[in-house]
Amino acid sequence: MKFINQVELSNRRVFIRVDFNVPLDEEGNIADDNRIRAALPTINYALDESAKVIVASHMGRPKGKRVDKLSMAPVARRLGRLLKKEVALAPDCVGPEVEKMVAAMEPGQVIMLENLRFQKGETDNDPEFGKALASLCDVYVDDAFAVAHRENASVVAIAEYAPESVAGFTMKKELSYFRRSMIDPARPLAAVLGGAKAMTKLPALENLLNHADKIIIGGAMANTFLKSVDINVGASLYEEELVPVANVLLKNAKKAKVKVFLPVDCVVADRFDSKAQTKLVTVLDVPLDWMIMDIGPATSLLYREALRDCKTIIWNGPMGAFEMDAFSRGTYNMVSTVAQTYALTIIGGGDTDVAVSRAGESENISYISTGGGAFLALLTGEVLPAVEALGGNTGLENGGQL
Ligand code: 3PG
Repeated sequence: MKFINQVELSNRRVFIRVDFNVPLDEEGNIADDNRIRAALPTINYALDESAKVIVASHMGRPKGKRVDKLSMAPVARRLGRLLKKEVALAPDCVGPEVEKMVAAMEPGQVIMLENLRFQKGETDNDPEFGKALASLCDVYVDDAFAVAHRENASVVAIAEYAPESVAGFTMKKELSYFRRSMIDPARPLAAVLGGAKAMTKLPALENLLNHADKIIIGGAMANTFLKSVDINVGASLYEEELVPVANVLLKNAKKAKVKVFLPVDCVVADRFDSKAQTKLVTVLDVPLDWMIMDIGPATSLLYREALRDCKTIIWNGPMGAFEMDAFSRGTYNMVSTVAQTYALTIIGGGDTDVAVSRAGESENISYISTGGGAFLALLTGEVLPAVEALGGNTGLENGGQL
């Protein structure tokens, strides 16, 4: 795999695929521009090298149709403000008008293509669409780690047709941190997994049994694990069909000498509502018609102790329904624990970054991944199609060389 700083960019058309699929509020304003800021080093580097910079991203899931509220217009404006230069928005991502705009570019200029997913060829990974995108550039730079798990034309097909295909600095950083945490990490290595659904996390947990020394489980997914050791979880969310799988995983963890930590107490509520009645109980005392909404204070303390000697911590997914104040303590306690350790700390996906940023602790985390699904795919041991398309490996092969 080659990187942007290993190719000639001067006076060349450089197509930078970024993931600017940022959250928008009800008025269509950008609610969080972290992904845009993360791509600035790559874009600025290309500009410093006198490239003609074409920036492209998807936004949302418009399914091959033009959807005005998913236009890249607000993103182009924000990028312009952050770069302190004009970013012209193209009317589409391919076609004669776009070609004309690109042909008229001068070194040091930036244009942004319209939402790649307005074209069906994008999610179909259509080779013709990939070819059309590639024809816009001399160098293709993939800096869109967060969409690297998708077989989309702008991250897979394009790499076959572009004259040169390389990775940007965000992609490099993401893969490097992943490798530092999963290949020969400073030990003990702990993985903290939370979130609502065990279904989406079980494959990652299975893979982590081969890497981690400790696994800490929180969020509603913990209920499935509690159930698997015959603990009554009342009216809590849990995935019945996964109970036996969770049980086998706990047994396999024991065989592999991986310590798994489950909640010992919890905040329960009489309904799934911010105004519900709540109480703190041990996991052995969950009332039949109440639901577990967060880990309790004893669990927070237990998890803090478990993480105290860890040298590497990977965290994905909140400890409870933290969007509601009454059920946010467990997640914020975990933020503070992770932020205060002396470990290499890597956080990604499932709103974990939102909790960290709300707690004002972003600066105290070693690395916050831009990826949600892509981060989880790496934890699961999957090969990311976009990285493969660049001739790199995402897994742990070749001793983890990029
Ligand atoms: C993300 O936000 O996780 C990426 O941009 C991928 O988006 P997608 O899940 O719609 O493919």
